[in-house]
Amino acid sequence: MRFAATASIAILALASLGMFSQTSAFAQAAPQVALTPPMGWNSWNYFAGKVTDKDIRDSADQIVSTGMKDAGYIYVNIDDTWEGERDAQGVIHTNKKFPDMKALADYVHSKGLKIGIYSSPGPKTCAKYEGSYGHEAQDAKTYAEWGMDYLKYDLCSFRKLMDSESGGDPAKANQMMHTAYAKMHDALAATGRPIVFSLCQYGWDSVWKWSPDVGGNLWRTTGDISDNYDRMSVIGFAQAGLSGYAGPGHWNDPDMLEVGNGKMTEDEYRTHMSLWAILAAPLLAGNDLSQMTPATLAILTNKDVIAIDQDALGKQGDRVTATGPFEVWSKPLKDGSQAVALFNRGEDAEMMELPYSAVSVASGYKARDVWGKKDFALGESYSTMVPKHGVVLLRISKP
Ligand code: GLA
Repeated sequence: MRFAATASIAILALASLGMFSQTSAFAQAAPQVALTPPMGWNSWNYFAGKVTDKDIRDSADQIVSTGMKDAGYIYVNIDDTWEGERDAQGVIHTNKKFPDMKALADYVHSKGLKIGIYSSPGPKTCAKYEGSYGHEAQDAKTYAEWGMDYLKYDLCSFRKLMDSESGGDPAKANQMMHTAYAKMHDALAATGRPIVFSLCQYGWDSVWKWSPDVGGNLWRTTGDISDNYDRMSVIGFAQAGLSGYAGPGHWNDPDMLEVGNGKMTEDEYRTHMSLWAILAAPLLAGNDLSQMTPATLAILTNKDVIAIDQDALGKQGDRVTATGPFEVWSKPLKDGSQAVALFNRGEDAEMMELPYSAVSVASGYKARDVWGKKDFALGESYSTMVPKHGVVLLRISKP
């Protein structure tokens, strides 16, 4: 890994001078962000291109007043469509929906929250606003001056450059993409401000294999989510096999949450939230917080589910068994327990049996049903009714 190697060299050099312990040298060489999957809220899934300064301020207020902040939702991320024109010196300005970005960042910070922004390595963003191409260092400096804590960097129009400048050579095109992401990472690092770097290029070129080398703290593994069970479940269950690539500071990102946007049932939203927690996925809510129902809030802020997602061991879970529409997934946790999810992807409620040997549990183990909020001991076997498109999520530990 490029950055790990750079950091090691820095550690050796500083240690040989007797200046720092290895830990403090590393901390100086590479500010530690995203040690657990980032949690917060992003404007895209609900507001899309209509988002304004007021929507961001209101959302920050609501994250605090609803208790979401206390549950761990910290980043308030502005997605695409904030961008205005560049001035004669090339400095990016906001459009009229965002009159004063520094004041907005100060406001969000005053709530004890962090703020994120969005750009593209291409000349244009996906919504055809100004991208960072050719202005990477300048933009990183502007974001740092505004007080940004997070950047989502979305490939968008850079794809056209990859096509036109690679001469049709896919390896060359991919190398261009890696270089473009590394360039922005280096520009962010040069500001000295800890800024979470979120890659968004839809999982191309097995991004999980090279993203940590270009400084990615998280990387989208798929195309865009939408607020329906089919799309959410296709994306979520397709994450099987990627668990080896995630860990503290670098996470697979199956895209933002749709919980509360209205086009899935409560069982389906519980599946969405449970699967994302098992996946140690970033939890970026994407709903209209001013219209949030108690049921949505309960799903987003279930403490046991968030604890599974945010577990300090930092291991992504994975699929253990799949039998037709019935899938069992498990995630190891720091205290030696594990989260086990029984998912029913079928069209009818069905009894599902916990496969004891496949998840290495036995009679007498302690279990907590984290949605049902019940504690019990496992018997000789354990079967439970799982609703259509639903889940039973358990936290299981040794007796
Ligand atoms: C892409 C991304 C989305 C969103 C939009 C904004 O589609 O994948 O998450 O950021 O661009 O234009």
